[in-house]
Amino acid sequence: MTRDTTHTPPSRRRSRASLVPCPVFAVVVAGLLLLAPMAAIAGPPIEFDQVSNMFEPVSIPAQKIHELAELVLAICAGIFLVVGVLLTYVILRFRARPGDRETEPPQIYGSNNLEAAWTIVPVIIVVVLFLATARTINEVEMREPVAGSLEVTVVGHRWWWEFQYPEYGIVTANELHIPVSDPERRRPTFLWLESQDVVHSFWVPRLAGKTDVIPNRRNSLWIDTAVPGLYLGQCAEYCGTQHAHMLLRVYVHSTEDFERWVKEQQAPDVVDPSVAAGRELFQSTACINCHTLDGTVADGTYGPTLSHLMSRETIGAGAAFNTPENLRDWVRNPAAFKPGVRMPDMKLTSEEVDQLVAYLVTLK
Ligand code: CUA
Repeated sequence: MTRDTTHTPPSRRRSRASLVPCPVFAVVVAGLLLLAPMAAIAGPPIEFDQVSNMFEPVSIPAQKIHELAELVLAICAGIFLVVGVLLTYVILRFRARPGDRETEPPQIYGSNNLEAAWTIVPVIIVVVLFLATARTINEVEMREPVAGSLEVTVVGHRWWWEFQYPEYGIVTANELHIPVSDPERRRPTFLWLESQDVVHSFWVPRLAGKTDVIPNRRNSLWIDTAVPGLYLGQCAEYCGTQHAHMLLRVYVHSTEDFERWVKEQQAPDVVDPSVAAGRELFQSTACINCHTLDGTVADGTYGPTLSHLMSRETIGAGAAFNTPENLRDWVRNPAAFKPGVRMPDMKLTSEEVDQLVAYLVTLK
């Protein structure tokens, strides 16, 4: 029996040209080209970054998730570097050179040491990642509120958020107000997440991880931050046409400011006699079937409550700032701000819209 000791199929000849534009080089070059503009735009953060940058957590659960993400990123970056350096070395060191024999080099099969190494090392990496992740999940999960928590029920609707504060008898929309929780007075916020219709997802990156908001189910989430400020978030599960305009604003207040906000929300809306016509009009249109407004006949729950409407900075779940002009445009034609929105154009005359808006802007 004869054996081919060179393992060289006689018919195969390598073309020099196929070795030089190696796909690996193409990938490395493409990667560098992609990284270059990223380095160029990594200047001072814009305002949006400051309020929603997930790399700057300010709340305990967000901080824990951030630490895990950094560990995973570091391990993956290490793997990328080792593989990249070895690959580059092999490509340069063993590339084809003039005068090389044009035959396939000797093929080597089986190395117990190598195979053991590339099995054991990845297993260790996976185990480390698994344990670190399990620990973080355990730290971040809180199934029941701890004593002294502020409990808020969050209800996802297409396409806005309802916030109920059972402890204070307050219901508001789209803008969540919570107190700071500092070492002297620890007061985490515990959110019960419910959905009125489809699956949404509550996500305010600097405060906590993303949690799904599912119909017929109660999920939960907690926030514990000592840093007052405004934090932006977003529904993070596609829920229909206006998913992108299902924004979240979370205001973290000092204890005194939070108490003041609670008092303002608990106070009845003022009844201003100068806008009686608008109030009358509001109560005689279909507005009352979808919106609630304390002190009037309006008790609808399909749309956001209008009580203390002007205490909010935005309308339409963050679609526009809450100015009298925007409010007017919104009432005239909500779909101009949010195509597909479930609030219809009420076909009011220009004069009626003026009366209605004049009334709405008194709801401080
Ligand atoms: Cu709600 Cu996406």
